[in-house]
Amino acid sequence: MSAVLPPVVSVHLPSDWAASGLVDDVRRGLGSRPLRLPPKWLYDDEGSRLFDEITRLEEYYPTEAERAILRLHADAIVAASDATTLVELGSGTSDKTRLLLDAFTRAGRLRTFVPVDVSEQTLRDAADEVAAEYPGVRVEALVGDFTLHLGHLPTGGPKMVAFLGGTIGNLYVEERAAFLGALADSLEAGDWLLLGTDLVKSTDRLVAAYDDASGVTEAFVTNCLHVLNRELGADFDVEAFTYVAFWDPAMERMDLRLRADMPQTVTVPGADLTVDLAGGEEIRVEISTKFRPGTLRSELGEAGFEVVEIFTDPPGDFALTLARLT
Ligand code: SAH
Ligand code: AVI
Repeated sequence: MSAVLPPVVSVHLPSDWAASGLVDDVRRGLGSRPLRLPPKWLYDDEGSRLFDEITRLEEYYPTEAERAILRLHADAIVAASDATTLVELGSGTSDKTRLLLDAFTRAGRLRTFVPVDVSEQTLRDAADEVAAEYPGVRVEALVGDFTLHLGHLPTGGPKMVAFLGGTIGNLYVEERAAFLGALADSLEAGDWLLLGTDLVKSTDRLVAAYDDASGVTEAFVTNCLHVLNRELGADFDVEAFTYVAFWDPAMERMDLRLRADMPQTVTVPGADLTVDLAGGEEIRVEISTKFRPGTLRSELGEAGFEVVEIFTDPPGDFALTLARLT
């Protein structure tokens, strides 16, 4: 029997969140129009907890759809690749990833698992659990930003990079292209990408998934104002904003915003900033882009990845694409 190897955790973010780019992001995002904040600041401990709650909502289909694909196809995905290292970007709790880890274990192939996330405590907890559940697998967790720290991914030996949940859809078009290019640069020819993406579907289902009846998504998105109040001493009156979630048919993405109910002046001392919001003015907090198979093939192709197979769940709600760097 293999021994349980304690996880190794390397930290590439300063322990103080406010020092790790939040100030720059807030100055850039709230210092000019249109107002916007990058979604990575949604994931403090409370945000990670709220996201976990979202994944269990009746209306939020992506998690179960992706899980169904992994249940059906994880063995085929592992068999199609020669990877001995599994990297997971934006790994969160690595919950669905267990299905992939199980398939790697059945194939007797996995040596190292490298989960990468900005949310340090969630990552540490997940790394401990995975190390205990998969004896013999080295868990080398990386606390970092997948848009900045791909250069720290391990080298040597064939790798599979899993980017699950549809998180790539939270990047803007230009960020997505830059991310895929940087990922390709950080990998070696023949390495694998397993990319989860939500697919375009009826507006009703999309809006329900992002504006759930119990208000968990509203709490998740609004949490970014609590983060700014706590980390930068801002004085956002959280009650004075209304959550707005709508489908943008031109960009094929959900657009998640906070609308000021009345004119208000907000000070953000940690960013040396004062923001005058007009009544009805909105701060965009997140987008969630939905994809079509053709777009996936062309965007991956432009970054140098050749699509091997696109797996979908039986209703066709979500896609898991296996691609190889050429
Ligand atoms: N992969 C999981 C979690 C998705 S939630 C799933 O499929 O359910 C998105 C995850 O990405 C969160 O854990 C969040 O902390 C992380 N994340 C968001 N932006 C990030 C960034 N720029 N770099 C690293 N992790 C990020
Ligand atoms: C993490 N990401 C894929 C989620 C999504 O569906 O875009 C984040 C989320 N935002 C609101 N609900 C879920």
